[in-house]
Amino acid sequence: MLDDLTRMAEPYRIKMVEPLKILTREERIRKIKEAGYNPFMLKSEDVYIDLLTDSGTSAMSDYQWAGMMLGDEAYAGSRNYIHLCDVVKDVFGYNFTVPTHQGRGAEKVLFPLLIKKGQYVLGNMHFDTTKAHIELAGGIAKNFVIKEAEDTENYHPFKGNFDVERMEAFIKEVGPENVAFILATVTCNSAGGQPVSMENIKEVKRIADKYGIKLFIDAARFAENAYFIKEREKGYENKTVKEIVREMFSYAEGFTMSAKKDALVNIGGLIALKDDEELYKKVQQMVVPMEGFVTYGGLAGRDMEAMARGLEEVLDENYLYWRINQIKYLGDKLRASGIPIQYPTGGHAVFIDGKKFLPHIPQNQYPSQVICVELYIEAGIRAVEVGTLLAGRDPITKEEILPALDFVRLTIPRRVYTNSHMDVIAEAVKRVYSRRESLKGLRLVYEPPVLRHFLARLEPVE
Ligand code: F0G
Repeated sequence: MLDDLTRMAEPYRIKMVEPLKILTREERIRKIKEAGYNPFMLKSEDVYIDLLTDSGTSAMSDYQWAGMMLGDEAYAGSRNYIHLCDVVKDVFGYNFTVPTHQGRGAEKVLFPLLIKKGQYVLGNMHFDTTKAHIELAGGIAKNFVIKEAEDTENYHPFKGNFDVERMEAFIKEVGPENVAFILATVTCNSAGGQPVSMENIKEVKRIADKYGIKLFIDAARFAENAYFIKEREKGYENKTVKEIVREMFSYAEGFTMSAKKDALVNIGGLIALKDDEELYKKVQQMVVPMEGFVTYGGLAGRDMEAMARGLEEVLDENYLYWRINQIKYLGDKLRASGIPIQYPTGGHAVFIDGKKFLPHIPQNQYPSQVICVELYIEAGIRAVEVGTLLAGRDPITKEEILPALDFVRLTIPRRVYTNSHMDVIAEAVKRVYSRRESLKGLRLVYEPPVLRHFLARLEPVE
């Protein structure tokens, strides 16, 4: 571990830079209007600091880029695939590895093999594409995250935890034969990048075993979750993050992973299984028509090499310390100015509580989206709404869903921005907050029937 002084700055230096275009305020006002007040519709080059997502936006290391030159682009049996399998075995202890083009590719292949029509998939809080793939496979997604996750103001070390009692009561009510599997999302993105404790994973495993249900992990941010366990859970402070990862995954049968997050690559995904050879064979049969041959699954050899190297690199505890604390640095600045955020900050983003930030704007006028628009106007920052616009409508009643958690997600890409950028973001949020009372809501002028938030167009309510 490093001392205080060597922990004050990024544990890497910059070898290549990507210049940013900076527009004037007048230009930004025009651009966001043209984009239908929807940051998804902005051109990336019109954005100064892009906080839309941490997915596929990481900066790769020189070691990863060097690996890109060693791509073996054979259709079958590429050496990079073999390296990837070795790393998965070493990091997670799992025997079977199948690459996919990204996380949802893994979900698309695995879920239909596990779900019978009408069965439930129980999770802490499923990510939206995950929920969509559960539903496409005929299943019903159910969330059991602890109530503390909805209380954004108060500290809880593991707001991503399952409410195990509530989940067990549900299993008894519907019958274990109607549960396809349990999926633990680490960290829990939708609750604010909040971690799940080892104790909770063990409890979930105990319940799973009790009822003969399989446990899988949605592993997108596995290393960040492990780091939180090391920092916050008794008995883990002297373990390495690698040992913690090994233990976390020892309780599950397998995982799906979007490698675009903690594997530090721009594209890629994985399915890995501990030892279920029969399921592995079924996955192999499905992956060929869906993603590509079993040893590449939609990726180039060079992508698999970068992923194998990223999976090892992300376990560097100096990196993880910086990563987690960069998010905290931004969160602390906002909290010090009285800005309501999900507290404590999670692993990949600061989540602003839109309803508390703009209490005078009704939830069906998208307060969190209003904040996103204003952040772009204020400083060219592109954030993302994870609230009412994203939640959409009830499929039966067609009423708008008003979610308990209505967030602006300031998602921080890995190794991309410095703390000087964090200072700009904090100042921009403060300036928007200081003029919050003058802000007005938004209404939809174009609403696509599914996943409306991506393509929606809005206008200010007068
Ligand atoms: N699971 C979780 C927890 C995720 O956060 C994501 C993606 C996926 C699965 C799907 O993976 O994008 O590689 O297909 N999250 C991104 C985000 C898109 O912005 O939070 P994918």
